[in-house]
Amino acid sequence: MITIREESFHDVEAREALLDACFGPARFQKTCERLREGRKAADGLSLVIERDGELVGTVRLWHVSAGPNRPALMLGPIAIDPALQSLGLGGKLMREALTRAADRGHKAVLLVGDAPYYERFGFSTQKTSSLWLPGPYERNRFLALELESGSLNGARGLVSATGAFENKPDLTALVAAAAQGQLPGVHAAF
Ligand SMILES: CC(C)(COP(=O)(O)OP(=O)(O)OC[C@H]1O[C@@H](n2cnc3c(N)ncnc32)[C@H](O)[C@@H]1OP(=O)(O)O)[C@@H](O)C(=O)NCCC(=O)NCCS
Repeated sequence: MITIREESFHDVEAREALLDACFGPARFQKTCERLREGRKAADGLSLVIERDGELVGTVRLWHVSAGPNRPALMLGPIAIDPALQSLGLGGKLMREALTRAADRGHKAVLLVGDAPYYERFGFSTQKTSSLWLPGPYERNRFLALELESGSLNGARGLVSATGAFENKPDLTALVAAAAQGQLPGVHAAF
């Protein structure tokens, strides 16, 4: 049975293993990663697809501004278990993610990816020609989809991250806990 649901904390390990299998360590060097690192994904838009209870796909969307004062989402990474690709799971996950984004009132989605794949969902380079990403990328792979018609009209400038920052562990508290032997597997070196 195929299920699409929001990701939970318990899925993180399986999601990361899947992304490693699909992209390898170079995934952290992608320009889009600069828009994700240290940020929380948009509420309700970290999705996983399960087959018979096993996580076999992932997609997340992130808050960005497409040039000044133009809220949008950046989609990615999306990945399906290599053993299960080309069975329609990626399409299902994309459509569900876009529907949920529209239902939440988001107006536009950007991504960097292969146009021959993403065109089927309505993505194109039409509205990205005056936008820039914070790093190297191939311009013909920088795509956008308006969830609300005209929402990217005149969009111009740098795409920047606008999502909430991830909660970081308090280093002082961690060091204090390690010193008191309260962190399993961590031994104080002082
Ligand atoms: C891209 C990906 C998410 C698509 O998921 P999927 O479940 O394989 O896709 P679907 O089954 O819905 O669609 C399959 C169709 O898309 C095509 N397709 C898949 N990847 C494609 C690509 N990069 N470029 C063009 N077409 C592609 C397949 O040839 C197939 O075509 P068909 O319907 O004419 O047979 C999946 O292949 C994947 O995880 N790839 C590795 C990671 C990746 O590249 N992610 C995208 C980064 S931008």
